[in-house]
Amino acid sequence: MSTTVLANETSAERWKEQFTEIATLAGGLAHEIRNPLSTIRLNLELLDEDLRDDTNPQSRRNCQKVQTVLRECGHLEQILNDFLQFARAHALHLERVSLNEEVRRFLDFFSAQAEDSGVDISPHLAAHLPEIDLDPQLFRQLFLNLASNALQSMPQGGRFEVLTYEQPPWVVLELIDTGCGMDERTQQRMFETFFSTKNGGSGLGLPTARRIVQAHGGEIQCESSPGAGTRFRILWPIPATETDLNSAT
Ligand SMILES: Nc1ncnc2c1ncn2[C@@H]1O[C@H](COP(=O)(O)OP(=O)(O)OP(=O)(O)O)[C@@H](O)[C@H]1O
Ligand SMILES: [Mg+2]
Repeated sequence: MSTTVLANETSAERWKEQFTEIATLAGGLAHEIRNPLSTIRLNLELLDEDLRDDTNPQSRRNCQKVQTVLRECGHLEQILNDFLQFARAHALHLERVSLNEEVRRFLDFFSAQAEDSGVDISPHLAAHLPEIDLDPQLFRQLFLNLASNALQSMPQGGRFEVLTYEQPPWVVLELIDTGCGMDERTQQRMFETFFSTKNGGSGLGLPTARRIVQAHGGEIQCESSPGAGTRFRILWPIPATETDLNSAT
């Protein structure tokens, strides 16, 4: 019996080591590709400038080809950036913060984009929430991924509700959109890396969001119905000291 446990532990350790090695390699590879890719893009932009005003038919055709390659470069850069964000999503720099303040700060930055898309943001933030331990930068990344998905699901506009409330042992952030919703298959696969139903989507937005939430010891839940909309619920653990403070008052 004890031999089996030991064997499992050893293989788990080995698996973890191999995983870390592959993850490091993949991160390094992404960095290595990013630099030459930006050189390629810069040179293509220069070429594009040279060709843009040339009315010669051959130059027009070349200009179109350059623009196609430029678009593909942009797509590759986006995938690499999303991948690097995914890879970084576990290293936390925690601060004790007010969730409402972080939410307000994000919405200040995001509201112009929502307005452009014809989406009304409707915040309902509970008063007197206990503070939580968050990495503010990763929190903004998570919120941006979820809010971008919400906007993309409402191409004709709609409503984006943002709720915060306490439900011990959690502080909850709920995001509700009135967008296209998801069918069963999409709901089952949405957290898989590289799963996307969108043209040009890298399929890393939700896996990164989940990684960020899990790194904080939290949970992410989703309910969605096609044609009606989607609700994401993110549960943040209330730090023990905050629970003690609350029960003392
Ligand atoms: N709020 C939402 N409403 C409807 N569908 C959604 C919503 N959020 C996610 N999805 C579905 O889940 C899929 C995966 O989302 P995810 O954010 O991981 O990738 P993506 O948005 O396709 O690409 P990207 O990596 O650029 O974010 C989406 O392609 C979409 O089908
Ligand atoms: Mg997305």
